[in-house]
Amino acid sequence: MAAGKNILLIISGGIAAYKVLEVIRRLRDREINIRAILTKGGEQFVTPLSVAALTENKVYQDLFSLTDEAEMGHIRLSREADLVLVAPASADILAKMATGQAGDLATTALLATNKPVMIAPAMNVEMWNHPATQANIATLESRGVIRVGPSAGDLACGETGSGRLAEPAEIIANVLDFLDGQSAPKPLAGKKAVVTSGPTHEPIDPVRYIANRSSGKQGHAIAQALCNAGADVTLVSGPVSLPDPAGVKVVRIETAREMLAAVKNALPADIAICAAAVADWRTADEAGQKLKKDGSGVIPDLRLSENPDILATISKAGASRPGLVIGFAAETEKVTEHARAKRARKGCDWILANDVAPETGTFGGDQNEIFLISGDDATTDEHWSRQSKTGIAEVLCARIIRHFS
Ligand code: CTP
Repeated sequence: MAAGKNILLIISGGIAAYKVLEVIRRLRDREINIRAILTKGGEQFVTPLSVAALTENKVYQDLFSLTDEAEMGHIRLSREADLVLVAPASADILAKMATGQAGDLATTALLATNKPVMIAPAMNVEMWNHPATQANIATLESRGVIRVGPSAGDLACGETGSGRLAEPAEIIANVLDFLDGQSAPKPLAGKKAVVTSGPTHEPIDPVRYIANRSSGKQGHAIAQALCNAGADVTLVSGPVSLPDPAGVKVVRIETAREMLAAVKNALPADIAICAAAVADWRTADEAGQKLKKDGSGVIPDLRLSENPDILATISKAGASRPGLVIGFAAETEKVTEHARAKRARKGCDWILANDVAPETGTFGGDQNEIFLISGDDATTDEHWSRQSKTGIAEVLCARIIRHFS
């Protein structure tokens, strides 16, 4: 039920701001409480008085207003909401959100909030299509920000294209869906999951290491999807340049041995998903000092030793084995055949097999295609078509929910 929930509405500058008055009205009809922050830009298009009248609440405008700090500081303002809605979201506020700026009340509240954020962008078509705006949107979405619109059509500036604020009805539908979804019981509530992600770095000496090209995108997306479905998720991640998934406990490690220790530490768990590209080997004797070229032309003889296999170890962990253990199989040929053998060898329940041949662009890329191997013969195999790694994470999450129900 959305009634009684609280929204912090941030109105930034844009001619479409007037449409947000309709959004406020309809949400108030449903007894949703709204506090609004009006930015300096927003004030140019709607008056504080009309926003206050419709929200039936004080409108917040100034970061340094002492009264506001005494009555309700910006931290409380951002924390007491069930949802922070930025509508219209101008190119400027999106850029500030993406880079973590906090120069006024709206951006400070957005940086300080630990609550879900929804944006409804509105701007000129060229501004929307600009690589800078698109990069900001990608950054925000990777952090879990929910986007509504923009839609395409005639723009207030006289041009035509993408950039129109989504219609009030669409914004309202998304807000209600979100708030209703929050009240509904989450399908993985009460389940504990541990996910590994990214590469491992195996030191050769204090400045060099053995690694691989894994980006961590798939593992991180899985951790986020499980968390969104209500699971209590620990993500054990090797070095990656991705933001931490929202709401997930992240343990950062470098080597395979550290990854194994962190995974064991996160047990008991109901679900374990090994998406990390663990280095199979490490140097047998890591040098304490940087290896030097001494001019003799003698090349260091790197001896390798095998790393622990995390997936196999937890699959065979006896009493502390998670009920559902899932691994990946990165293959470049005979994908399902090798993956089936890998499933048997490692002792896990499911293997998600993917083709990582260079021409597929899977390793390090944004897309993936999966064969789910869950049995000894092909009758139970499933194929998940090529799509974004986020999409694959959602399909996997839905499959896990079905397994437990
Ligand atoms: N894995 C692991 N620990 C390792 C090696 C792999 O947990 N030391 C896990 C990966 O996270 C993945 C699965 O095992 O879920 C399979 O990884 P993959 O690299 O495909 O297989 P390998 O066991 O390394 O076998 P090979 O490289 O010979 O295909």
